[in-house]
Amino acid sequence: MSESDCTPTIYKDNIDFWDRAWNMVKTPYTQMPDLSYLERIPTLLSDIKSAKILDLGCGSGWLSIYLARQDFQVVGVDVATHALELGRMWAEHENLSIDFQVQDISNLQFPEGYFKAVVANSIFEHLTFKLAQKTILNLEAIVSPGGLFFGCFDKVGTGPGEFYKLDDGSQIYTDKGRRGMLLRCFSDQEIKELFKNWQIEELTCLENGSRILIARK
Ligand SMILES: C[S@@+](CC[C@H](N)C(=O)[O-])C[C@H]1O[C@@H](n2cnc3c(N)ncnc32)[C@H](O)[C@@H]1O
Repeated sequence: MSESDCTPTIYKDNIDFWDRAWNMVKTPYTQMPDLSYLERIPTLLSDIKSAKILDLGCGSGWLSIYLARQDFQVVGVDVATHALELGRMWAEHENLSIDFQVQDISNLQFPEGYFKAVVANSIFEHLTFKLAQKTILNLEAIVSPGGLFFGCFDKVGTGPGEFYKLDDGSQIYTDKGRRGMLLRCFSDQEIKELFKNWQIEELTCLENGSRILIARK
C-alpha cells in the first residue's frame, strides 16, 4: 500500500479526530450556515420529493434537517456516532423523520440504485484522492440512473497547526488540536477525473475558492 492509498493508521487517525471533535459538542448547534448555494439545493431536487436523498458525511445533520423541513426523504451518514446522536436530537426536537446511519462513506452499505440524489457538503476534502475515488465508485452503485450529485468541495489551505504531506498532497495534521485530521484540496481537474463516469452539469468556483459540482449519473 503506497502512502496515497492511506495506511490503515492514517485512516483510523482521521476518523478518531472526527470522533474526538464531535464528542466535544454537547448539544446540537441548530443554526443553518450562511451559504450562498444553499437555496439552490431544494430547487435542484424539487422533482424527486418522494425519492431517497443521501447526505454524505452529514455531521450533526444541518443539511439533512434543512431538506427534511421541506419534506425531502433524507438518509444522513457519517462515521462519527455522536454527530448522528446530535442530529437525531435536533430532528426529534423538530419532529422530523431522518434516517441517520453510522457508515463509512468509502464503504457504503445500501442496495443498488437506492438513492435518487446525493448531497455532499465539505466532506471530500477529508479523503485522500484514492479514498475519494472509492467513494464515487460506491455512489455509482447506490445512485439510480439519472440520479443527481450536488457537492461543495471546499477550498482548503493549510490553516493553523503542523502537518506532513502524503504523496497525493493530503495533509495529515500532527499538532494537538487537529491531530490525525486529513485535509486535501481537490483541483478542478481532479474533480472531473473523479466524476468521469457522470455527466457534469456544472463545476463553478465560488468567491471563496470552493467549488460547486452538479453532476448526473
Ligand atoms: C467538515 S465536516 C462536514 C459535515 C457536514 N457535511 C457539514 O457540511 O457541516 C466533515 C464530516 O465528515 C465526516 N467524515 C470524515 N471521514 C468520514 C468517512 N470516512 N465516512 C463518513 N464520514 C466521514 C466527519 O465525521 C465530519 O462530520
